[in-house]
Amino acid sequence: MENIIKDFLSRFYSVSERPALEAQIELFSTESFLKGKKVLDATPVFRNTLNKYLVMLACGMDLTVGYGGKIPYDAEIVAFLRSIGVRTVENGTADETFDFVLDCAGVNADVETEYGVSELTRSGFYQYQDKNKKVFLADSSRIKSIETALGTGDGFLRAMQKLGYGDLRGRKIIIFGCGKVGFGVAMYCAENGADVYAVDDWQNRSVPHKFHMVSRFDRRQIDDLTADAFCVVSATGIYGGLTQTLDLQKLVKSDALIANIGVEDEFAGLISKKRILNDNQPLNFILEEPTHLKFIDPTMALHNAGMKILFNAADGEKFILPDEKINDFYLNIVRKHGIINKELDMLEKYSCQE
Ligand SMILES: NC(=O)c1ccc[n+]([C@@H]2O[C@H](COP(=O)([O-])OP(=O)(O)OC[C@H]3O[C@@H](n4cnc5c(N)ncnc54)[C@H](O)[C@@H]3O)[C@@H](O)[C@H]2O)c1
Repeated sequence: MENIIKDFLSRFYSVSERPALEAQIELFSTESFLKGKKVLDATPVFRNTLNKYLVMLACGMDLTVGYGGKIPYDAEIVAFLRSIGVRTVENGTADETFDFVLDCAGVNADVETEYGVSELTRSGFYQYQDKNKKVFLADSSRIKSIETALGTGDGFLRAMQKLGYGDLRGRKIIIFGCGKVGFGVAMYCAENGADVYAVDDWQNRSVPHKFHMVSRFDRRQIDDLTADAFCVVSATGIYGGLTQTLDLQKLVKSDALIANIGVEDEFAGLISKKRILNDNQPLNFILEEPTHLKFIDPTMALHNAGMKILFNAADGEKFILPDEKINDFYLNIVRKHGIINKELDMLEKYSCQE
């Protein structure tokens, strides 16, 4: 099974795109604590997720893959997994006890587990608040911003290129929400010569000089800016997030491209999905690989590493955050053996600017 996956993946990826997972295979397969343990992995199932399962299989774990149940997935990859004998189950429906659950958005919050849960997203945190379980929160890490900021920013740019809008030089781009994802989009747009306006609540935060800071409460400035924008991007992550923030009817009539990079409908149905690129789905999801493996590899490794942390955690612990040591461990591997040093430098450069 492992070799079939490896052969399949070798058609698409080089080892340098998954340095953290590759190192983890070496590291974990020499330890016996995972051997024979049952794991349910609910990471969204796409082609690049297969790289993650190689770690579990190399350790001799009993792997079940969770798919769907509000988490996007590639049905062809689920079919491929089944065809080679990997057990799959719809998220939220497993009725057996697993040693570990590697969850996403808390969709398996009710599944029984022996050692605990490693959770991939922030929204999963809320699902586990009232559960009596040990939970490792992979989202609360510097590593995660490699995926969310760099990976999504890169995916946004590649999607714009695919649609024929890749030349951003001198173009005015207004980004609503400058959290991890919006920041990454802003960074890639600025690096490619765009005139970037970042709209958020800036009372306690600042952004790099390369972006213009716009208060989300300055309705007049926002409406003036969007009137002649090249592209308006929503990245608040909130359903209906933009309905009170700008004049949507004016936006619809303008020439601006409208793109959503978040997973919610930030326009709450007030704009026809046909007026929004990719029918209001996250723009990078028009790509075969929405987030390149090279950016998601350390996040996947950290999510897996949660199993070791849970195994060694003291009884009574509830939420466990990744510490600096584990962040540095995987970041150093990516720096040394990966191919994203230029992008990591960019992230540091932008994060340091006042
Ligand atoms: N497309 C992808 O591949 C991908 C990857 C990861 C996450 N996401 C999605 O992207 C979205 C954003 O995620 P995030 O991690 O950056 O969230 P976040 O919470 O870190 O950032 C959201 C930002 O939006 C701001 N905001 C809220 N309401 C606003 C408004 N009306 N106007 C302007 N700013 C406002 C907040 O202050 C915050 O800074 C979520 O839907 C997330 O699920 C998409």
